[in-house]
Amino acid sequence: MRLSVAPMLELTDRHFRYFARLLTKQTLLYTEMITTGAILHNKPEKFLEYNEEEHPVALQLAGSSPEDLAQCAKIGEDFGYDEINLNCGCPSERVQSGSFGACLMREANLVAECVCAMQNTVKIPVSVKTRIGIDSDDSWEFFLNFIESIAKTGCKYFIIHARKALLKGLSPKENLTALPLNYETVFELKQTHPDFKISLNGGVKNLDDAKNILQKTDGVMIGRAAHKTPWILANADSEIFGAPSVNNTRLDVLEKFLPYAQSQLKKGISPNIIKRHLMGLFHGMPGAKEYRTTHLHSFFSLT
Ligand SMILES: Cc1cc2nc3c(=O)[nH]c(=O)nc-3n(C[C@H](O)[C@H](O)[C@H](O)COP(=O)(O)O)c2cc1C
Repeated sequence: MRLSVAPMLELTDRHFRYFARLLTKQTLLYTEMITTGAILHNKPEKFLEYNEEEHPVALQLAGSSPEDLAQCAKIGEDFGYDEINLNCGCPSERVQSGSFGACLMREANLVAECVCAMQNTVKIPVSVKTRIGIDSDDSWEFFLNFIESIAKTGCKYFIIHARKALLKGLSPKENLTALPLNYETVFELKQTHPDFKISLNGGVKNLDDAKNILQKTDGVMIGRAAHKTPWILANADSEIFGAPSVNNTRLDVLEKFLPYAQSQLKKGISPNIIKRHLMGLFHGMPGAKEYRTTHLHSFFSLT
């Protein structure tokens, strides 16, 4: 819980998670959001298969039917996931039309029912990822009522993206940039309920930011920066968890990842699906552009 990499659609797939594990063994990794419909109407392995090396890994579910969520949580537990997380923070139109994600913040009782159903079905922890408000429902009372309603089910794990979401008028991208971050609300939640396990998410760029926030919360979740500048994870084990670092250099990471990449390409995975996760490895280093445009490019066109 102390440090995690956020669920991010099209970014935190199992290939990225395999790559991230070469940088940090301890950081909790989240899957992309997976809808209950995708799991229940297809072969679940299509969405849930992962590499054993990825542990600890949490499955993020999107849905709003207690029965479906409970069923998917159980399937996730049987696949060996270490935690099930419910998405109550995504504001995209597609997600709203399915009545899940951030619009669930207006359905505190339903979310509590969903969480209760999942907790009754699995032994692994169930957590909720949410925002500090939606649209004009952005008061402290609204936010606190939402969290407390869920906590009544016994759920104590909350990941709070410290900005509100606008359900109309902003694209998902603008919903990550146009509105200000408000860490104080998250700190206040932890102060009000010291027994809740609170992770703060939003705008964390590096481990120094994370360490500052950890003075006031139980955990920090890093999203975009973990994908854009993955090397920030390299010292997480020692600096955040007090454990030995993996101690790989950037080149070691590449050397260990490329055979994995090759094995995936042989299975028919498209090169671009894998290559995109490696683009940021040398971010900010001399030669980073050449690495991206020449070295990576030739590896993925030759194999
Ligand atoms: C490309 C992209 C995809 C995302 N997909 C998800 C998702 O599937 N589930 C979710 O809860 N949040 C999703 N998010 C939001 C992130 O988990 C995180 O809350 C947000 O990026 C803020 O953290 P950051 O400032 O550290 O990036 C996504 C964000 C991005 C940029």
